[in-house]
Amino acid sequence: MPVETIKWENGKVKLIDQTILPHKFKYIICKDAKSLWHAIKTLKVRGAPAIGIAAAFGVILGIKDSKAKRFDLFFKELRRVTKYLASARPTAINLFWALARMECVAKNSNRNEISKIKKILLKEALKILDEDKKSCRRMAKYGSGLVKDGDSILTHCNAGGLATADYGTALGVLFEARKQGKSMHVYVDETRPLLQGARLTAWELIHEGIDTTLICDNMAASLMAKGKIDKIFVGADRIARNGDAANKIGTYNLAILARHHHIPFYVVAPLSSFDFRVKTGADIPIEERDGDEVRKVLGRVMIAPRNVKVYNPAFDVTPNKYITAIVTEKGIFKRPYSNALSVIARSRRRRSNLKREIASALRASQ
Ligand code: MRU
Repeated sequence: MPVETIKWENGKVKLIDQTILPHKFKYIICKDAKSLWHAIKTLKVRGAPAIGIAAAFGVILGIKDSKAKRFDLFFKELRRVTKYLASARPTAINLFWALARMECVAKNSNRNEISKIKKILLKEALKILDEDKKSCRRMAKYGSGLVKDGDSILTHCNAGGLATADYGTALGVLFEARKQGKSMHVYVDETRPLLQGARLTAWELIHEGIDTTLICDNMAASLMAKGKIDKIFVGADRIARNGDAANKIGTYNLAILARHHHIPFYVVAPLSSFDFRVKTGADIPIEERDGDEVRKVLGRVMIAPRNVKVYNPAFDVTPNKYITAIVTEKGIFKRPYSNALSVIARSRRRRSNLKREIASALRASQ
């Protein structure tokens, strides 16, 4: 059973504090947009889909006490909240996607009383959460077909239940394959500097009874050279129109190693992680984080000279040519992604005006 990473409970957001896992399991309560922003910024809630869902609820927290009587005044307040939440982290597109969707729904409900609009917005945030659950299951179904009984799999960072509302993306594929009776061995990159692999992925896999081995990031090449990896599954924080995929720093290394060793490299991500405005990965903004994350281990033990300069990008971009396929809730896509993705984009637009407005609001929100 997946853990419940995010809940809406009694008018508040309840989140698992991912910074203290695996040794402590604690929920934190966010009562306002400020504490929610802080939870995203400090990675208490993390992983692209989970950030998007949290932000949608953050909008509710930010506008729930609004005294505005007119829509234009209410919308101004809402825009202030979405802009503020959007400033928490720059790379995962799901954050901006969810905020833009909330803005769109507010605009489309402008004929209603403000109290009714607040209810409509809450319904939308709950819908975003529910849709993520469903797309996790669909990605898992599609992706599990790529896993063979006895496979040895490598994963990076955490693309599991903690990063989503349900099964996870890359890990969801493994959970589903296992449910189908396939056995597998999973190697987990520790994922320096914040150790999402060691702390979160290893915890989730062990919890599910999957045979798991933790490795340091710099051990992947030697494992591949020894023929110990059959497939690689990772998540994504933002995928450009051409299929270039931003994910946790170190993913690109793995993709190049995989190509050299003829190992399939799969990205698993929902459509909410695609950014159709971005043509190639070169245009994806990459978050740079505090140098102390590298100078110290888990913010506690200083392991380098205090004044050493640090380069600490949180993500890198894997060029599409190194990606064997992208698994989504709409199926598995291969290069050239532009064709497949434009088919998805067209079908999204056809389905409703809302989708078109989301695209334009997305443009405006960044
Ligand atoms: O900095 P994080 O921990 O938010 O980075 C998360 C990742 O890079 C995940 O691999 C990615 O969001 C995919 S999660 C479904």
